[in-house]
Amino acid sequence: MKAGVIGIGAALPEEIVTNADLVKHLDTSDEWIVRRTGIRERRLLNGSRTLADLASEACTMALKDAGREAKDIDRVMVCSLTPDRMMPGLAPAVAQQIGCDLAGAVDLNAACAGFLYALDQAAALVESGRANLVVVCGAEALSRITDHSDRGTAILFADGAGAVVVAAADIEHGLSTFELRSDGRHSDLLYAEIDERLLRMEGREVYRHAVARMVEATEAALQRASITTEDVDVFVAHQANARIIEAAARRLGVPEEKVVINVDTVANTSSASIPIALWQAEREGRLKSGHVVAMATFGAGFAWGAGIMSWKEHARVSA
Ligand code: ACO
Repeated sequence: MKAGVIGIGAALPEEIVTNADLVKHLDTSDEWIVRRTGIRERRLLNGSRTLADLASEACTMALKDAGREAKDIDRVMVCSLTPDRMMPGLAPAVAQQIGCDLAGAVDLNAACAGFLYALDQAAALVESGRANLVVVCGAEALSRITDHSDRGTAILFADGAGAVVVAAADIEHGLSTFELRSDGRHSDLLYAEIDERLLRMEGREVYRHAVARMVEATEAALQRASITTEDVDVFVAHQANARIIEAAARRLGVPEEKVVINVDTVANTSSASIPIALWQAEREGRLKSGHVVAMATFGAGFAWGAGIMSWKEHARVSA
């Protein structure tokens, strides 16, 4: 048996903040933001809902999509660097809200790389037989740790949640190979201090590392899966900046039409960005059962990685 993704969901806050809204209080322009990042608007949690509410909405949608019930879940993993409280983490509240409050529930923080780290762990739990059904959710309210007066970062970050359901299935590939890496020597290029609680970033340096490391990790994951870029149907990278994604895709040799970019409307939602992009790609008909998906991510730590999966392969097997 292999572990595969069998359901997906996402939830975005209602409040939309456009570049034009930011220009009212920041020394920037719509033209600069679009040209340097590709971002046009972002969604922000405005206090009417908690992040646990948003994460629960995404998980409930993913469970419904998977055709499974909450009582069957035995692990809930929520990745976040911006939980509602310093403790407890989000996962127990999410498990309770979605109706599986007796399931094991744990938070995982690997910054923007959290979702791929958690997905790898979910696959290991399922394939080793330690769990049957695992929900993996990336949920972030980065607006909580954004310095809204710093034009270098205030334009980039946003809030949202995305979730997948991972289960064992009699499939060929499923969640195939993951390459996960870190290098703590660069922690001062992207961080938020405990006291200040604001995200600080050396944008240009992070950019340079992001492209190179995501390309290396994706190449390694492809090689370990014994496939090449030509076998990839869809490339979903962490949605930090359209230029980073395009540069990585170019170096990998992935053609434009296979690259998913939704940073224009959701901006950078850290660990939620990959599941939200997968959800959107499927809704737009770009992601279909059996498609080979290459995922890549990079963030604070530095922690980064890549993963190869066959999308909802169980649907093909049972069809
Ligand atoms: N509007 C107008 N000008 C700006 C703005 C802005 N919003 N922000 C910066 N500038 C100015 C700078 O002050 C600088 O001016 P100067 O040359 O007079 O000093 C100039 O624009 C160039 O600044 P750079 O920082 O070099 O601009 P760059 O093209 O690198 O773009 C950006 C900045 C968008 C932050 C980019 O570096 C980036 O995306 N970095 C990587 C972010 C990333 O990958 N994060 C991933 C992990 S983080 C996470 O996901 C939580």
